[in-house]
Amino acid sequence: MLLQVRDISKSYKSRYGKTIRNVLQGAGISVEKGEKIAIAGPSGSGKTTLLNLIGALDFPDRGEIIFKGIPLSEMNKNQLATFRNREIGFIFQFHHLLPQLTLWENIMIPALPGNGSKKEAHDRGRMLLKETGLWEIRHQKPDELSGGECQRVSVVRALINSPSLILADEPTGSLDSNNASMLIDLINGLNDKAGNSMIVVTHSREIASRMDKIYNLTNGKLTGSN
Ligand SMILES: Nc1ncnc2c1ncn2[C@@H]1O[C@H](COP(=O)(O)OP(=O)(O)O)[C@@H](O)[C@H]1O
Ligand SMILES: [Mg+2]
Repeated sequence: MLLQVRDISKSYKSRYGKTIRNVLQGAGISVEKGEKIAIAGPSGSGKTTLLNLIGALDFPDRGEIIFKGIPLSEMNKNQLATFRNREIGFIFQFHHLLPQLTLWENIMIPALPGNGSKKEAHDRGRMLLKETGLWEIRHQKPDELSGGECQRVSVVRALINSPSLILADEPTGSLDSNNASMLIDLINGLNDKAGNSMIVVTHSREIASRMDKIYNLTNGKLTGSN
């Protein structure tokens, strides 16, 4: 088992702390190594909150997230930083590439000094850019590319450190259906090759149907898988 999310709850206080919104209320999910999971649910149901908790960008009020047998709550600051950087690859709805950097510099950010072998990251960056058809344009900057190309770069950036779990939050939400389909093919292909797992939040039935399991997030709980 790669990941176990056990009975987690998360609530937010309103801006003035007067009301509390219970977003997750006992949500649970398990992810095997290599498994791909889709999460669907209405806007505001807590999908992004869930991914943020799994990626240790935030912490649950109750419940436990266990990664490779180790509860995140037992990791210290350094271990959490390593977990986020090495084990998790994030893909967002918008690419969040830095405009002043080239594509190559953007994808190398997660592999900056102190984060493992530079040569390994360079080799992997070269391989991924060639596979995604971006190698020739690696010295260009994001504003010279289309939205679909930028999103492909952000996929490469997510995979540069060979993470074991990709967390993708509506990764095709900013793309037209052609580009969306291409991007999912690309992510799926790269995932299969690397053997990593993925949790993808998506509104697209077509994309969800290409995952191993589909869960729905409603009323703070995850239900239904096929
Ligand atoms: N940092 C926060 N502070 C207060 N409320 C938040 C915060 N993040 C999310 N929320 C609220 O929690 C609910 C779930 O948000 P979110 O996880 O972004 O849902 P989804 O991704 O499913 O659209 C929403 O009502 C949102 O306004
Ligand atoms: Mg969201």
